Amino acid sequence: MNREPSVTVDTIIQQGGKLKGQGLYGCVWSPPLLTVKNTAVKNKKGVTTLGKVTEYSEVAKEIELSKFLSKFPETTDYCLLPDIKSISKIRPLSQQKDEDIKDCLAFERYDLNNMYQFHIQDGGITLREKLGRLKTDIHTFDFFKFVQQILEIGAFLILHGCIHNDMHSSNIVMDTNYKPRVIDFGRAYMYNTITETTVSELNARYSPQLRHITPESTAFDGVTDGVDIEQIYRDLYSMKETIKVIEQVLGVSRQAQIQEFRNFWKTSVCAQAEDWLTLHRLYWTVVDSWAIGNIIIQILKRFKMSKTFLQSSEWKEKGTIIQSVLKGLLRTSPYYRYDALEALAMYDPSNAFVNSESGRAWLSKKKSFV
Ligand SMILES: Nc1ncnc2c1ncn2[C@@H]1O[C@H](COP(=O)(O)OP(=O)(O)OP(=O)(O)O)[C@@H](O)[C@H]1O
Ligand SMILES: [Mg+2]
Repeated sequence: MNREPSVTVDTIIQQGGKLKGQGLYGCVWSPPLLTVKNTAVKNKKGVTTLGKVTEYSEVAKEIELSKFLSKFPETTDYCLLPDIKSISKIRPLSQQKDEDIKDCLAFERYDLNNMYQFHIQDGGITLREKLGRLKTDIHTFDFFKFVQQILEIGAFLILHGCIHNDMHSSNIVMDTNYKPRVIDFGRAYMYNTITETTVSELNARYSPQLRHITPESTAFDGVTDGVDIEQIYRDLYSMKETIKVIEQVLGVSRQAQIQEFRNFWKTSVCAQAEDWLTLHRLYWTVVDSWAIGNIIIQILKRFKMSKTFLQSSEWKEKGTIIQSVLKGLLRTSPYYRYDALEALAMYDPSNAFVNSESGRAWLSKKKSFV
């Protein structure tokens, strides 16, 4: 199916659409569903518009970030965010025309009177799906370019004081040119507005198996759920797949990783005082970098099974540096962990982000801090 019809600016009559994807909180339709307000879709050349339908409280979080980030023209190179003007309540399901309507699980979970839709540019298929389709042919995916692109996404976000906070392979979409962009800002926040309220909203159920969640967030969720810290260390050891993969791919033993985290937790004044606000304010820069490290290492683990990949001139040239970058991104202690810009500076020193005024200021501030 060609998802990118080359239409010039025109208006597509709303007709209700096919279910393109769904997450825990919402469903995404192509074309968008029928809404109460007549929100006609304007497609620019080569751009398709989707409709994301979700419960109001979820929309609100995405809107907040969108209001801020949409001020920067380069945002669309790295992130796809709601088109704020398009927000509207959806029409009753009985008026929707598509059969897929019954497949959207969020409609069973939420009050339909509180479901809103916004338009968002179609960024292609998720990284998760893309990798699934690459099983037989890894050569179509430029791993080395991808590492740079995903670090650039991370660098863009921290330079603007944003934490996405839910970066995993179903929240990264890739277009036909393999350009990755991050979606789903439902758990995102801004560093300069971190308050006790932010922290309590971020507090989630203890789920040590979640690979993209940092060890310190897992510990925060565990301690606030009443789990003993020694048990949390054991769960990180045995349940966090990322920690196992770090051992397999980078050769850092699980024991050493847990020891590093234990040392951090024991010596961190805010962790010991359960001062979660300070913990979040101090280490916001390395939340997404852990998740980015997790994405890269999962792909690398797969690619390293290919002889062709291991024998490629690019791996020979960049393999050592990629492994050092990954070790930095995946330090279990947030104190030692690299942020995305530091990692980018190592991987691609001539990168525009690294050499920009804000990038250089960021990196020299970091150096003086450590
Ligand atoms: N802009 C987009 N371009 C392409 N596909 C998209 C886009 N936005 C969403 N999707 C698809 O819809 C799915 C669900 O969207 P999204 O992640 O925003 O919803 P969610 O319910 O908030 O998810 P989660 O459960 O991760 O919180 C995505 O995983 C993806 O398959
Ligand atoms: Mg999602």
